[in-house]
Amino acid sequence: MSILIKNGTVVTASDAYVADVFIEGETVVAIGNNLPHQAETTIDAKGKLVIPGGIDPHVHLEMPFMGTYSSDDYSSGTLAAMHGGTTMVIDFILQTQGDTLHNALKEWQDKSIGRAYGDYSYHMAVTDYNETTRKEISQLIQNEGITSFKTFMAYKGALMIDDGQMVALMKEVKKHGGFVTVHATNGDMIDRLIATNKAAGNLSPLYHYLSQPEVTESEASARFADMAHYTGVKSYIVHLTCEGALNAVRQATKRNQKVHVETCIQYLTLDASLYEREDGHKWVMSPPLREPKDQETLWAGINQGLVQVVATDHCPFLWEQKMMGKDDFSKIPNGHPAIEHRMELLFSEGVNKGRISLSKFVEVSATNAAKIFGMYPKKGTIAIGSDADIVIFDPNEEHTISHKSHHMNADYSSYEGWEVKGKTKQVIMRGKLAIDNGKVLIDKGYGEYVKRVPFSKI
Ligand code: URP
Ligand code: ZN
Ligand code: ZN
Repeated sequence: MSILIKNGTVVTASDAYVADVFIEGETVVAIGNNLPHQAETTIDAKGKLVIPGGIDPHVHLEMPFMGTYSSDDYSSGTLAAMHGGTTMVIDFILQTQGDTLHNALKEWQDKSIGRAYGDYSYHMAVTDYNETTRKEISQLIQNEGITSFKTFMAYKGALMIDDGQMVALMKEVKKHGGFVTVHATNGDMIDRLIATNKAAGNLSPLYHYLSQPEVTESEASARFADMAHYTGVKSYIVHLTCEGALNAVRQATKRNQKVHVETCIQYLTLDASLYEREDGHKWVMSPPLREPKDQETLWAGINQGLVQVVATDHCPFLWEQKMMGKDDFSKIPNGHPAIEHRMELLFSEGVNKGRISLSKFVEVSATNAAKIFGMYPKKGTIAIGSDADIVIFDPNEEHTISHKSHHMNADYSSYEGWEVKGKTKQVIMRGKLAIDNGKVLIDKGYGEYVKRVPFSKI
């Protein structure tokens, strides 16, 4: 199988230039002007961008959470992602407290093997760090290619570990060349604020927001950075939302510490005023949406290199599931659908509105995730020898987001009616034309598990 993409503008994290790209089998084999290669399929990409397939390193597919399951599975989730130009995701395995990491791995393999359209990998969420868990860390890194260990500083009683466990885990992970990622919010403070609000009869979605003020995130981010500095482990904060938390990271850079930061598309584009709406349940997620000043801080953080990744934290629920918390914000399953529109929204709101450059767009939507999570240059760039995961993107096509036309298993959209400029036209997935103008040309199960190697510096 061979594909020749002609006359497109190839964009990488460092360059943008007009060239042809020739793909043979699963990889890119030539890039240049007027390539003489004959291919089985030729795509004219004149006027289009040719970009690396997006990598979303923060998704929750069919995840058991708050008494229900997130509504996209590996099949619907990875296909919706691909429609929007994301060719690879990293999902979170959740250890059940009291059980082993390997049992959790088996559970996630059962959900994913033979079901995905796009490629995928796993982070391991350690929710119960003990002597058994400790011994599993090195095996997961060496045998399974799982190099990133997720921790929660909130969701007490379900996912949270305490600071003693955190430091012990960090030391073990460091020993084996992996790194620790974190949901950095102060769980005890949040639980107290939730209880206080409920006791006062404050039960609407707005109180979800008011129970997680900025200080709960900035405090935990600073504490996490301090523990990472003390142990020397490589570190990454997921879904960072606000100025205070980013300042904690900035502070850490002053002692030459690198704390990697991910934000999510919703924190760049939506704000907390949505919680005042009747249907504010749709945006109940943790951490919550913040203020316009935080959006500006995050866009600036991207340009300053402090924020390296834009993910989604895709954790969709149907409206019926959201209604579990109809009368009590603390029972609304946390999370929202986003996997499909990350790339197009980031392009439209970021590049088209002049907030970030084209190369920055590629860097934060694909390249940095591939580097940080140990898959570069196989993934995350367009280069000779790299996997041919390529998106042909029309920078000028305008379209409107709606739950009626999206592919996620969610009966509402967080962006209903939003006008977006920039659209995924074709997706090539490891050398196969997978999506052609909305038409799906690959089968379920095409997606493969990607083993990762320990962290490389960016
Ligand atoms: O609201 C969210 N973020 N749901 C998914 C779980 C998590 O904290 O990432
Ligand atoms: Zn989280
Ligand atoms: Zn998450």
